[in-house]
Amino acid sequence: MKEVPLNQSVKLITPRVTALITTVDKGGNVNAAPYSWVAPVSFSPPLVYVGIGGKHKHTYINAKDTGEFVVNIVSEDFGQQAVNCEEQHSPGTNLMEKHGLGAEPSKKVGVPRVRESRSVMECKVKEMVEVDGSDHVLLIGEIVHAESEGGIDDVKPLMHDGGRKFRSVGKETELERGNN
Ligand SMILES: Cc1cc2nc3c(=O)[nH]c(=O)nc-3n(C[C@H](O)[C@H](O)[C@H](O)COP(=O)(O)O)c2cc1C
Repeated sequence: MKEVPLNQSVKLITPRVTALITTVDKGGNVNAAPYSWVAPVSFSPPLVYVGIGGKHKHTYINAKDTGEFVVNIVSEDFGQQAVNCEEQHSPGTNLMEKHGLGAEPSKKVGVPRVRESRSVMECKVKEMVEVDGSDHVLLIGEIVHAESEGGIDDVKPLMHDGGRKFRSVGKETELERGNN
């Protein structure tokens, strides 16, 4: 094996699911941005985290101000539109609309969800964790409502390798396990 520079080492955790995180600002404007540092934290209570690379990001500011966000899993068929929502913008610019994605009301939070998304997790902010000296803030949300159109073959999540590289989910394999 080759040694991996430490500043590149976290990239070994790949691919990661791509999600559009929706939030609203204090004025009620919807914001959507793609994030792939997204993972489960706990079954009970059901917690997810989003790694946010800076307190200047709208997602951080809005989630802190309103206490709510929605994790909308991105499917391959609207991947490019979701990734387009990365663009820098001033508060109040509706990038979802600009890039041809729809918003619809959530069930348990005031933040809309993405109409095209086939798996959504509506969250209330549980904690925002700042790890001393690190460059990402951990936005931890408790899922208060979740919906999905089915399994991985129905959702076809767009996986993010890094940079411009994305992957489809590969073939299923079943392995023997112990009593877990
Ligand atoms: C596929 C993809 C995944 C991304 N993942 C993250 C991430 O996990 N954390 C992060 O801070 N930025 C991530 N970004 C960059 C943000 O989308 C970008 O900084 C965006 O402008 C943030 O928007 P916001 O200010 O509305 O939150 C990602 C971008 C793309 C295209």
